[in-house]
Amino acid sequence: MSDRLIDAAKAVLARAYAPYSKFRVGAALETTDGTIVPGCNVENASFGAVICAERAAVAAAVAQGHRAFRRLALTSDAPDPVAPCGLCRQVLAEFGLDLEIISVGATGGRVIYRLRDLLPHAFTRDDLPEGA
Ligand code: THU
Repeated sequence: MSDRLIDAAKAVLARAYAPYSKFRVGAALETTDGTIVPGCNVENASFGAVICAERAAVAAAVAQGHRAFRRLALTSDAPDPVAPCGLCRQVLAEFGLDLEIISVGATGGRVIYRLRDLLPHAFTRDDLPEGA
């Protein structure tokens, strides 16, 4: 099945900056108005400063004025589909737990997750005290 969102995630994989891990990740967010915003991982000599592809896509989308997301496509160099890391799950959760995540492995396998299932008992803004 051809899907522009998956194609966008695959295309941005080529732009990943991963000289240390050599593990490239490409992500693409689909907004509720149909806009597609890609992101790739950006590594750093200070390893803790690494930005994952999913968080790069969220930051780019928000900077473009988008906050409502329908789907996220994820691709990487791994043969099998990968799931977003814990930090990215939390960042994605800020914008809604109904997000559908389609992960595609380098050998073509696909898995579909719901963010709600990947991050049960999520901590969200609803958990903050009033006024925070
Ligand atoms: N990475 C992502 O971009 N997304 C994930 O969900 C998992 C990990 C990146 C971070 C780092 O550049 C490389 O993969 C190896 O961890």
